[in-house]
Amino acid sequence: MSDSRSAGFTEVSVPEAYDRFMSRQLFEPWARELIAAAGVQTVGSVLDVATGTGTVARLIAAEVGEAGRVVGADISPAMLGIAAAKAAEPGSACIEYVECSATALAAADASFQLALCQQGLQFFPDRIAAVRELHRVLAPGGVAVASSWAAERPLGLFGPMVDTLSEFGITEPYPRAFDASSYALAVADLRELFESAGFRHVTVQTVELECVWETSHDAVATISGTPYGPLLAALPDAQRQRMYAALNDRLGGSKQGKLTVRTASNIARGVR
Ligand SMILES: C[S@@+](CC[C@H](N)C(=O)[O-])C[C@H]1O[C@@H](n2cnc3c(N)ncnc32)[C@H](O)[C@@H]1O
Repeated sequence: MSDSRSAGFTEVSVPEAYDRFMSRQLFEPWARELIAAAGVQTVGSVLDVATGTGTVARLIAAEVGEAGRVVGADISPAMLGIAAAKAAEPGSACIEYVECSATALAAADASFQLALCQQGLQFFPDRIAAVRELHRVLAPGGVAVASSWAAERPLGLFGPMVDTLSEFGITEPYPRAFDASSYALAVADLRELFESAGFRHVTVQTVELECVWETSHDAVATISGTPYGPLLAALPDAQRQRMYAALNDRLGGSKQGKLTVRTASNIARGVR
């Protein structure tokens, strides 16, 4: 995978729309699944890799409590800026946000008990290097949990997006940007990554979730919170509106009512 794919969330317009249209509707329900998959009762130090706007970091900070420590790491200063501006839940661990790559984490060896990474792997230029980094920063007995969209299932929200962009002849912003399969990992891929990085007791589960948007307008607007957002912003207004309408049709949106999208992730867990 290329570095340009990794930089897809650095454009300043993307994180705001990401947070408004996807954090609560899509990534928060998934963060609960990720944390549940960790299966740890008490944990004092957590690293959230590719934290984005900090959804996973905030939820785990509330579980860790005031005495603990949470670090959120991401390559995008714009995403981290939104994360850092959010108020913490009372009684939560303090969260420190750090700008760094998943393949060169700014963290000491064996310095965390739990390492999390939600929907980041598909953007990293070197996935095995990133999983090795999760292994390096965990103390012996520490747990790593990472998720990506499930390659064995349709790509929920993002499949209709890439199909619409292709249909309109938009130029890909980075190699394979409109290839749905490049955003998903299979159970076997995740297992191989975790085992190659040295994790023990590796398990990978496929989980399905129906995610709900208040209106189909909000579901369509998610596209402006993806690396495709700047492409749409550059289009003439009439063409952009036609694309929104086409995406709405693909998502099965109607003028009134909520819009539900079925999504599926593979969640890998391993012990250091
Ligand atoms: C789909 S978002 C997921 C964010 C967050 N985990 C969540 O659940 O909302 C992908 C994130 O990966 C980050 N990212 C992409 N490449 C990265 C890299 N090489 N190192 C660290 N973060 C990276 C992006 O900046 C973006 O915030």
